[in-house]
Amino acid sequence: MFVKANGKQIDTLRLFDSVIENFPDMIHSVDELGNIVYCNRMMTHLLGYGEDELRRMNIRQLYPPHILVAVEKGFREVKQTGEKCVESLFVARDGTRIPVEIRTVVIHDDHGAFAQTFSISRDLRKLKELQSDLIHAGRLAAIGELATGVAHDLNNPLTAVILASTVMKKLADSHDIPQAEMREQTALFCETISESAATMEHITTRLRDFAREVKEEHAPVDLFDTIHDALFILDHRIRSGNVRVKCPIVKDTHGVLGDRNQIEQVFLNLFANACDAMAQSEVRELSVEIASDIQNEGRFWRCAVRDTGEGISQDEQQRLFKAFHTTKPRGKGTGLGLSTARSILKQHNGEIRLDSERGKGSTFTVMLPAYAPLAPAAREH
Ligand SMILES: Nc1ncnc2c1ncn2[C@@H]1O[C@H](COP(=O)(O)OP(=O)(O)OP(=O)(O)O)[C@@H](O)[C@H]1O
Ligand SMILES: [Mg+2]
Repeated sequence: MFVKANGKQIDTLRLFDSVIENFPDMIHSVDELGNIVYCNRMMTHLLGYGEDELRRMNIRQLYPPHILVAVEKGFREVKQTGEKCVESLFVARDGTRIPVEIRTVVIHDDHGAFAQTFSISRDLRKLKELQSDLIHAGRLAAIGELATGVAHDLNNPLTAVILASTVMKKLADSHDIPQAEMREQTALFCETISESAATMEHITTRLRDFAREVKEEHAPVDLFDTIHDALFILDHRIRSGNVRVKCPIVKDTHGVLGDRNQIEQVFLNLFANACDAMAQSEVRELSVEIASDIQNEGRFWRCAVRDTGEGISQDEQQRLFKAFHTTKPRGKGTGLGLSTARSILKQHNGEIRLDSERGKGSTFTVMLPAYAPLAPAAREH
């Protein structure tokens, strides 16, 4: 087939070949067994393999071992549904892990049977860097808020230490107290001091944890930890807003695979939004519940964050996830919380849903694929 361009006849097949070969994203095809049957120039360039080498490899060799189970599942799904878009990781020849968005379609033969896949994979490193800056900024803002609460929390044990040491000094200076009583009193005050010191150590250790670098990681995460970390960071806001928290979640039960900081950021924003939405409410209750769910044959955790706040009208719900959409006063909200949350969840092959009615509170539901080692299949929570 020919098209006319600049007065010349160009073979469209050659044109497509050239477009695909020089496409700015990686393009590859695999056969039924996952053997790479085609790869374009960007694929060899970014992964550091020669074209011949890649064509002798199986696609599974390009993934880090810990996501191979998910890869197999994705491969099965794409064969069934004909197309799929996922976030994943490729490992380059030098070991560099490249976060990618892979869009795959299935090419069928003349009889409608699976022939091969056609995948376009976009290098997400730049995007991730931007996002990580954003998350870090959000996290620093949250830490600022946490510091207010910590200053308050440190005050009580500190006062106890100061009082105990003052009284102990007085005891040591007085000559008319019997030895036995002196020993008993000293032991009591020493106990108060060490208990208070332990409380303060606990607080400062957790604070140090929160100042940790935002480093992209893909590892098993317990939702219990991320949810409790987010509640801890917002503790001051929750207490000063008289918000009652109900969170009957059990540790080591709800495992997911992903980046702990990023997932924590999702909950941090949902909880902060819930507190803001309940500022004028009579009943202020924030509840977090997790249940298991099956979606496209995969097991998910359905995590519902419910508030008794002002609720959101249908009109407003359309705009909510758009970047920079905020109803909060200047300096209080940037309108990036929910759009960031949505993209983080998409990267984790999850999603976020909203169920709300004006005046009746809101429920944001976070769906994340369950990670087996932390999520025994037999248990339903
Ligand atoms: N639980 C909720 N109840 C009522 N309205 C909500 C709730 N959560 C979010 N919203 C509305 O959605 C808007 C967007 O939320 P989002 O988290 O994206 O941004 P923000 O909270 O305004 O600012 P940021 O999160 O960047 O500090 C909010 O301004 C608020 O109007
Ligand atoms: Mg927000």
